[in-house]
Parts: sequence; C-alpha cells; structure tokens
Amino acid sequence: MRVKRGKELAKRIKVFVATVSCLALTVSSIGCKTPKQNDPKLLLGFSQIGSESAWRIGNTNDIEKQAENYEVSLMLENANQKQENQIAAIRRFIAYKVDVIAFSPIVEEGWDNVLMEAKNAGIPVILVDRDISTEKEGLTSCLIGADFYREGEMAGEYLIRKADALGLEKVNIVEITGTDNSTPMRQRQAGFADAIADDERMTILESIDGDFLKSRGAECMRSLLEKYKDEITVVYSHNDEMTLGALPEIEKAGLTPGKDIIIISIDGGQEAIDVLKQGKINCVVECTPKLGKEVMETAIKLKNGEEVEEVIHPQENVFTDEQDLSKLEPRGY
Ligand code: AHR
Repeated sequence: MRVKRGKELAKRIKVFVATVSCLALTVSSIGCKTPKQNDPKLLLGFSQIGSESAWRIGNTNDIEKQAENYEVSLMLENANQKQENQIAAIRRFIAYKVDVIAFSPIVEEGWDNVLMEAKNAGIPVILVDRDISTEKEGLTSCLIGADFYREGEMAGEYLIRKADALGLEKVNIVEITGTDNSTPMRQRQAGFADAIADDERMTILESIDGDFLKSRGAECMRSLLEKYKDEITVVYSHNDEMTLGALPEIEKAGLTPGKDIIIISIDGGQEAIDVLKQGKINCVVECTPKLGKEVMETAIKLKNGEEVEEVIHPQENVFTDEQDLSKLEPRGY
C-alpha cells in the first residue's frame, strides 16, 4: 500500500512539474502542450519565429496538427520576431531534456553557441523553413523547408515571359525584401537577380527591407512611389503580406496594380490568390507552410537513431495571370 501511495505521489509530482514547466514556457508562447505523462512517444521542442504573416500562422497550425496526428508531445514557443527569444527557448528545451529540437531561425547567423549546447546534450536539431550559416560541422541534423533560390528564379522567369508578352523594352523593378539576413530574403533575392541577369531590359532601381510585414510593405511602397513613381514597371515583393500592404499605396497614388505596375509576390496564401484572380497581382510563387508531416516523421527517425535526409524541399508551383485559376483548391493558409 505504501509503495502504491509512494508511486501515486511520484506520479503527481511528475504531472505537477510538467505542468509548471509548461506554464513557464507559455509566457510568450502560442501554445504549449503538457507532455504526455506515460512516456511520450517523442517530446519535441519547437521554436517558431513569430506570427508575422498568414504563412507563419499556417505553418504553426500545420506543425500543431501534425504533432497530434503523429502523437508527438509538442512544446511550442513563439519568439515574437526576436532571435534572443529563440535562443532562450532552445536553452529551455535543453534543460527540459526534450528528445528533439526544431526551430525556424529568424536570421542565418548567431546560433553556434546554443546549438553547441544542444549537441553537447545529445539532442538532435531540425531546421524548419530557414537555414543557418555556420563554420561548425554537425550542429544540426537536417533542413526541412522551401527552395527559396528556386522561388526567386521562378519569379524572374515569369517577369521575362511577361515583358515579352507586353513587348516591354525597359523594365524598372523595385524589390521589397524580407527580413534582412534571413534565408528567404537572401535566396529569393539571389534567385531573382540571377534569373534576370542576362536580360538587358531589366534594372533593379532599389531593394528595400520590408521585414515580411504588411505595415512595412505599405511604408516601403510609399517611399518607393515618392522616389520613382512614374518609373516603376514592376514590384517584386518577397511575401504576400508585404504585397498586400503595398497594393493600397499604389492605388492611393492613382495607379492600378496589375496593369500600370506588374506585381509579383511569394507565398500563395488565400488572400493573395484571390487578389491575383481579381487582376491586381500578376504572379504568386508558391511557398508552402505545410512542413509539419516531414518534421514529425524526421523527428521520430532521429529519436530512433535512424538516418535522415540532409535537406527536404517541398514541391512548389507558380500561379500567374497566364493561367485559368478557377479550379484552384482552397489554399488553407
Ligand atoms: O520563411 C518563410 C517566409 O517567412 C514566408 O515567405 C513569409 O511569409 C514568412 O514570414
């Protein structure tokens, strides 16, 4: 009887500790699930960047949904757009002894120390969505995310086709970029620049940091219109959120987006696709936020000590005013 009571007490303490830890983790979090008490199949700590876009919210929802599907206990923290919050979250995951850590690095540099701590603790790390830049070997196990360079290339390839179709002789581009030093910002910029490099009609008038935010997209567009109003042929925006912020500014300036200015966006969320169908956006390159399934399957393999693929890129499309989009399935983000 005493043994039984002792066990019961120990069990209650375990539940209490898990709950208190979870509450502590929830201070700035979007959600935190108390790990299952009876030896969870897998305990995964995931540090999300923030909630800056419909894409990001869709990505968080998908990770949560797939964690449920795969019976993975998820500790989910929202870093509210701050690298220091992500570093602190990873340290908490290490202290909690999770089985696997996953995170979407807001920028590429500055992770060596905390990832070395995870490595020393023997906890494998999955990069989700974005990459890191480091000289050190073996800090992470794999990357699950889009091929951002290819996305930029697809945007550039569309622009060349559009310029041909309209018979344009000179194409002046303004680029609203994502968060400085982030992987999608760097690679979408490089892929686009390489794709148009040999086309002498193309000039990039200016690239301006819109931080992937709708409000910044509007600010950037206002300042670009002040400087170059009648010269702009194309807005190339690194995400839908910034594009949706920029469009009303173009209209306020008396111009018609999609006609007076060619609009190219990336992500492919429902709102941008609807605006593409209305003719105010010309091209949307898809970037899928649905990475949860691959993340869960990879985390399970890592816990079991199995080999995993170093890089997993999802299949992505491009949606344009050249296509009939009437039968496109709802996007789900
Ligand atoms: O890292 C993916 C990018 O981050 C998406 O394109 C953007 O919408 C998000 O905020």
